Amino acid sequence: MHEVKFFSGEKIPLEMHKVRVVQKLNLLPVEERLAAISAAGNNTFLLRNEDVYLDMLTDSGVNAMSDRQTAAMMIADDSYAGSATYYRLENKVNELFGTKYFLPAHQGRACESILAEAFVKPGDVVPMNYHFTTSKAHVTRLGGIVEELVIDEGRKPESDCLFKGNIDLEKLSDCIGRYGADHIPFIRLEAGTNLIGGQPFSLENLKSTSRMAHDAGIPIVLDASLLQDNLHFVKTREPACKDMSIREITAEMCAQADIIYFSARKLGFARGGGIAMFDRTYYERMKDFIPLYEGFLTYGGMSVREMEAMTVGLEETMDETVISQGPQFIAFMVDELKKRGVPVITPAGGLGCHVNARAFLPHVDAHAYPAAALASAVFIAGGVRGMERGTLSEQREPDGTEPIASMELVRLALPRRVFTMSQVLYAVDRIHWLYENRNIVGGLNFIEEPATLRFFFGRLEPIGDWQVRLKEKFRADFGDSL
Ligand code: F0G
Repeated sequence: MHEVKFFSGEKIPLEMHKVRVVQKLNLLPVEERLAAISAAGNNTFLLRNEDVYLDMLTDSGVNAMSDRQTAAMMIADDSYAGSATYYRLENKVNELFGTKYFLPAHQGRACESILAEAFVKPGDVVPMNYHFTTSKAHVTRLGGIVEELVIDEGRKPESDCLFKGNIDLEKLSDCIGRYGADHIPFIRLEAGTNLIGGQPFSLENLKSTSRMAHDAGIPIVLDASLLQDNLHFVKTREPACKDMSIREITAEMCAQADIIYFSARKLGFARGGGIAMFDRTYYERMKDFIPLYEGFLTYGGMSVREMEAMTVGLEETMDETVISQGPQFIAFMVDELKKRGVPVITPAGGLGCHVNARAFLPHVDAHAYPAAALASAVFIAGGVRGMERGTLSEQREPDGTEPIASMELVRLALPRRVFTMSQVLYAVDRIHWLYENRNIVGGLNFIEEPATLRFFFGRLEPIGDWQVRLKEKFRADFGDSL
């Protein structure tokens, strides 16, 4: 891994690409930002993109594509069955992962739905390093439960641990002993563990987990949606892997798993997904669900143009200078916020910068959704759209009680190769201002609360008039600036 050093000694991530296509952005004045977030029920998912200046909601499906990816879209072979485009994708996945079989699906959660239907029975337990919203929802939909076995360090907002996404092997052994392998259809390991701040696991931990699972006869399912960030961290943080190429690390990681699925909205810089495996019996078990829910076996709900872009994107993922841009920009943003005293998840992970809303807003009650309130305040402060990743993203228990999330985060995603450094610094500046004025920020209450995945469509209102006071403070401090 070569890093370009600046004469000044500053640590600045340097882009190994140039921008050739741009999209115009709009920054609304603070009064209109307040009106927009109010109209969206204080839910950043319900904002209109035209009202957003920096869309840091997610990296899903919004990473910049390369010239080669867009060029490849032009040679896509449109065919319902047997498209040459599909076979190029299948070959690329099997080449990189070392797998033998591939099933295409329209995105990551479609893979999760099929995996759950094929494997999970009522009463089953699916151990994971950590859940993802949709991965858990599909297991519980089929009567299964999820056990989270991430190491304790993974739940600490600030830490020196370089692999906070590691599974705790003692907890895993205990879990297998408690439930018995017969009730564990698979163990799911999530690369670049999303909900704890894009934190990686090490290759060593993956190998040990795989050994323990296979000794007990339990298959490993690798969620590779955020694999590219995890590959970068294994290469740069795991001494045993520093001389391995990204391609070698990919093959070695995948070899530990039985089934690998991914959202190509993240991995491969496109839109789509798929499930790869080594064993024909797993392929046969899942195959029929593809034409039932997704589309014929040679497109699985994806457009041929996206499949071409994905094939090239997966190959480009093997290039260190391509996959390091995201984590390096995220580390830059995390460091800049830390310098200004803003509580952020450390070490910096993949996907985005994660602000610790519980520490940012200690005066906001856990039941008043501090992370959702902070996400709303960040939008008012700067037109920056982040995502609540805390209690609001959880589901209520059947008796209506509210489980308080172990972490209360606002995720500011950095879609890869999309934002410039001055835009990142602008976001840092507005969050810094907000931190200095954090006492103004209050909580939120639901006014419409859907029963499932409430974070997508729920609508909330501020408790008291804090948003109006925040807007007034902005005007007082920034004059006529946007
Ligand atoms: N697994 C992980 C680790 C994810 O981060 C996601 C999506 C999925 C599975 C589901 O994939 O969206 O293609 O259906 N994460 C997005 C996000 C939604 O914003 O973090 P999908």
